[in-house]
Amino acid sequence: MKLYKKAGNTLQILSFPSEDVEKGSYLLIEDLKAGRSMIVQVVDIQFANVPGVMEEFLRELSAEDRVEGEDFDPLDISSHILYVQDTRLLVCKIHGTLENGFLRFDGSWLPSRTHSRVRRLPVKRLVEMVGVGRRLPIQVGETMDGSRLTIDASSLDGKLNIITGKKGTGKSHFSKLLVLGLIDHGATVVVLDLNGEYVNLGFARDGSRNRYHKVIKVLKPRENFKVALSQIDLSIIMRILIHSLGLPETSAREFRRIWRFLEEKRRLTLHDLGEAIKNWNCNVHVRDALYSRYYALLRSELFTDNLAEAVFLERILGGMKRGGAIIIDLSDTSPSDRKIIVEYVLGKIQKALAQWRVRAVFLFAEEAHLYLRETYWDDIITRMRHFGLFTTFITNQPNTIKESIYRQADNIFLFNFVNEHDLEAISRASRADAETVISIVRDLPPHHCLILGEAVKDFPIVVKVRPMDIQTMGHTRLFFEDNIPKVHESPIKVHEAS
Ligand SMILES: Nc1ncnc2c1ncn2[C@@H]1O[C@H](COP(=O)(O)OP(=O)(O)OP(=O)(O)O)[C@@H](O)[C@H]1O
Ligand SMILES: [Mg+2]
Repeated sequence: MKLYKKAGNTLQILSFPSEDVEKGSYLLIEDLKAGRSMIVQVVDIQFANVPGVMEEFLRELSAEDRVEGEDFDPLDISSHILYVQDTRLLVCKIHGTLENGFLRFDGSWLPSRTHSRVRRLPVKRLVEMVGVGRRLPIQVGETMDGSRLTIDASSLDGKLNIITGKKGTGKSHFSKLLVLGLIDHGATVVVLDLNGEYVNLGFARDGSRNRYHKVIKVLKPRENFKVALSQIDLSIIMRILIHSLGLPETSAREFRRIWRFLEEKRRLTLHDLGEAIKNWNCNVHVRDALYSRYYALLRSELFTDNLAEAVFLERILGGMKRGGAIIIDLSDTSPSDRKIIVEYVLGKIQKALAQWRVRAVFLFAEEAHLYLRETYWDDIITRMRHFGLFTTFITNQPNTIKESIYRQADNIFLFNFVNEHDLEAISRASRADAETVISIVRDLPPHHCLILGEAVKDFPIVVKVRPMDIQTMGHTRLFFEDNIPKVHESPIKVHEAS
């Protein structure tokens, strides 16, 4: 390999066909005279634009048809020409400088073209050099050169993370891997599970219970997730009424009075609340507004008067001091019930954090735009983060996440995207260089992830996510799965992507 050109923070390197380099690989350009080296990452591989190659091709094409006889090439020039025709141009991004064993994030100098040696930098060495995944390791998979990659659980601590990629590329699988990794290190995790895919995290593939079984609590609304009305704070019920059920302010004021009245009388039950609204002395429109919200609360079946069947979320959170996860299964809930449940859960988490019942909560939210209210997005990245709520958003529609969230994200785990709009949305993340992201992500095979940000100390690394022995529930139910008749072998052979 040979250093060829530099423009901004992009370097171009010539590479010969025999040299094995892939997109995403790291190279070390050692300037032997200056005694320092530059670390660059290959973000694109093109054919080198050698003058005369086009003419050579045309000559070969026209010669193929007509000329007969033997090639006479005593100096073996044709092999050299072929070599030149296949020469590649590696487009690389500068990532830092290595001098006397120290790494600096500086690319302001220029290595010599004549005295430099370019060679591949194994990811394993890079990772050791920058200290990725040393303290609290979570094993995520294998790098392109076959070494194991671990990231540090502490690089997710206090952070905002995004996992995105197109459908079926392995986002939820990766997110489960992070959830279990965090539990291993004693963290408390809450998952807002839109499709009911995390409910079997406590079971191995063969159906037996795994070591996480005891610390994973699955809560399913309408089944085992009911809360006692008398245990809810007024502030949380108000948030549900105003934000999830759109109660206007005047009616909300009246509801507060009713609630306080019932609280004083120690009659905070569903039945008494209904009766109080019915008999309350107020404007008929206010009563109607309150009544319709009351029915929405009843219909959600989240609330109960029976303390024996009620769940106390803060107690469960408080009991997970050695690591554990609460999975909120939202799979069979209507969109409006979902909003009520999420508002309740987030309210309770906030309260538990404020009272130090739990030190911090890692929240995993799948397709959050379907249930998170508008004002929560900013709240989650600012205020709640200081309280100890650290969120990971998982989505296959990157444009449902606001640009400000991308800009603030500390870690972004990217799976394959090909759609230009999606690529544009993710390239806005400040952690990432747009060219690197677009070029690498477009070619990622399924189950491969480009990790950006704190977890890899800002050295983007491609990893093949490891399989896990857990029961998966994310399968889409198919109609034709069992009914496909055997057909003769297709005349067209299609290579399956690995
Ligand atoms: N690294 C992996 N190794 C083995 N199997 C995997 C891996 N990643 C994902 N899978 C499997 O591939 C399938 C799809 O993965 P997953 O459900 O995580 O995709 P997804 O990106 O979340 O899809 P969707 O966009 O539909 O939510 C699942 O059956 C999962 O078990
Ligand atoms: Mg998924």
